[in-house]
Amino acid sequence: MEVLDVIMKRRTIRKFKSKTIPEEAVIQIIKAGQRAPSACSLQTYSIIWVKDEEKRRALWEACGKQPFILEAPVTLTICADVKKLIDIMNARGYQTSLEMGLGYAVKMFAIIDAALAAENMVLAAEALGLGSVFIGSALANPKVIEILNIPKGVLPISLLCIGYPDENPPIRPRLPLETVLFIDSYKQLSKTELEKSVNYMNEKLAEEGYYTKYSKRSTDFKWIDNVKRKLISDEKREKVFVKTLKDQGFHPFEPVK
Ligand SMILES: Cc1cc2nc3c(=O)[nH]c(=O)nc-3n(C[C@H](O)[C@H](O)[C@H](O)COP(=O)(O)O)c2cc1C
Repeated sequence: MEVLDVIMKRRTIRKFKSKTIPEEAVIQIIKAGQRAPSACSLQTYSIIWVKDEEKRRALWEACGKQPFILEAPVTLTICADVKKLIDIMNARGYQTSLEMGLGYAVKMFAIIDAALAAENMVLAAEALGLGSVFIGSALANPKVIEILNIPKGVLPISLLCIGYPDENPPIRPRLPLETVLFIDSYKQLSKTELEKSVNYMNEKLAEEGYYTKYSKRSTDFKWIDNVKRKLISDEKREKVFVKTLKDQGFHPFEPVK
C-alpha cells in the first residue's frame, strides 16, 4: 500500500481475530518504529513486548479492562526512557544534568520520541494488514510500572495492542482543517467556527454509533460529552499522576536517580 493510503485509511481497531502474528512481522514493526525521527538522535525510548500471559492479564486489569487488550495477540508498552543515556554517561564517569534535576527539555523530547516511534509502528502494522489500538491509561500508570519493573528515568506512555482486524469501522472524523491549520500566526477561532467543529464531530461519530458501540453509552452521548468528561479534573487521580511522574523522574526539576 502507498504510504498516504495507509495513513488516510487507518483507523483504530478494537476487535481482533485470535490469530497470532509472526515474530518477524512484530520485529519489522518495531524496526519501523526505530526509523522515526528522534530529537538529536538521542532515541530516548524503550518498547516492552509483553508476551507473558499473566502479565498481559495484569496489564488488562491495570488499564481499565478494555477487552481488546486481551484479544490482541501483541501487546507493546511504549516508554519514554532517559535512563539509558544516563547509564551510558555514568559508565563514562560523567554525572548528567538529569541527575541534578535539570534537563526537562530532554524529558519532553523523550516523550515526543516515544510517540513518534509509536505512530511509525501503528502505520507499519497497518501496512502489513494488521490493526492496532493505543491504550492511554498506561500513561504514568503505577500498576503498569510495577508489573513491568519499570525503573526511574523511564515512563510508560501507552500500550500499543496489535492484531488482525475483526471489524471494519469507518474512517473517524477530524476537526475541520480550518480549525487546525492557521497561516502565519495563531488564529483565535470564533464561537461559530468552534460550534461548527463540535457539531461536525458529534454528527459524524453518531453516524458510526461510536460511543454506543465501544463504550456502551446511550445514543445521546456525543463527542462533546466525551470532551467534557475528559476535561473535568479528578483531583485524586491528578495527585497520583503527578506523584508517578515524580517517582519516574519525569516531573520538572525531579532528579533522575
Ligand atoms: C495516546 C492515545 C491513547 C488512546 N487510548 C485509547 C484507549 O485507551 N482505548 C481506546 O479504545 N482507544 C484509545 N485511543 C484511540 C483513540 O480513541 C482514537 O485514535 C481516536 O478516537 C481517533 O480514532 P481513529 O484512530 O480511529 O481515527 C488512544 C489514542 C491515543 C493517541
